[in-house]
Amino acid sequence: MSTSHAPVPGLVIAIDGPSGSGKSSTSRGVASQLGLRYLDTGAMFRAITWWMLDHGVDVHDAGAVAVSAGEPQVVSGTDPAAPSITVDGVDVSVAIRSDEVNAAVSPVSAVPEVRARLLELQRQVIGEGGIVVEGRDIGSVVAPDADVKVFLTADPAARAARRALEEGGSDVAATEASLLARDAIDSTRKTAPLVQADGAVQLDTTGYTLAEVVDQVVALAQAVGNPR
Ligand code: DC
Repeated sequence: MSTSHAPVPGLVIAIDGPSGSGKSSTSRGVASQLGLRYLDTGAMFRAITWWMLDHGVDVHDAGAVAVSAGEPQVVSGTDPAAPSITVDGVDVSVAIRSDEVNAAVSPVSAVPEVRARLLELQRQVIGEGGIVVEGRDIGSVVAPDADVKVFLTADPAARAARRALEEGGSDVAATEASLLARDAIDSTRKTAPLVQADGAVQLDTTGYTLAEVVDQVVALAQAVGNPR
C-alpha cells in the first residue's frame, strides 16, 4: 500500500456496516493510505460496556446503564497503525474483545444516554476532520455531512469466518450466532439503528480481498474534489 494520495483537507469518511463486514480492516487501510486519522466507534461502545461489567452494573437494566453512562472516561487514540482505547486510564484494547463484552455490548449500545454521551465524544474527536470513522450510525447520525459514506456488507458466513479468525480461531458457528444476535438488536433499536445512510455507497465485500475493498473506498475519496 502506498501513502502517496494527498487527502482533501478536513475529509471525513464514514464507514458503517454490521459486525464482520470488514469495517475495521478497511477503515484502517484507507486511513493509512490517505494519511488520515482513524476512529473505531464500536470500540467506544465496547469500552463503556466493559466498564459497566467491571462495575457490576446490570447491562440488561437500561435504567441502571443510563444512570452510569456519564461516569466512564473513554479516550480513543486515532493512529490507524496502532489504535488504542482507555477507560479511566486503563488500557482495555484486549478486554473489550471478550465474549462477555460481545454478549453485553448491543443492549448497552441501545441505551439513549450511552449513545448521547458517545456522540459528543465522537464529534469532539472528529473535530475538523481528516479522519475515517467506522461504526453503525456514522453516516446517518454522527457525521451526516461526511464527504464519503460507505455501507459495507458481506455474507453472514464470510463475516463469521473473518471475525472468528480475528478472535484467534473462535468457533465459526458460535461466532456467526453471536454476530447475528448483535445485528438483530443493532438494526431494530429505537435510537440510531444500523441503517444504510442517505447517500451511502453500498459495497458487498464477500468476494473481494481487503486490498480491493480499500482501493474502492480510496477511489471514492479521491473523487471528492472540493475541500470543505
Ligand atoms: O463494530 P463492533 O462490532 O466493535 O461494535 C460493537 C457494538 O457496538 C455493536 O454491536 C453495536 C455498537 N455500536 C453502535 O451501536 N454504534 C456504533 N457507531 C458502533 C458500534
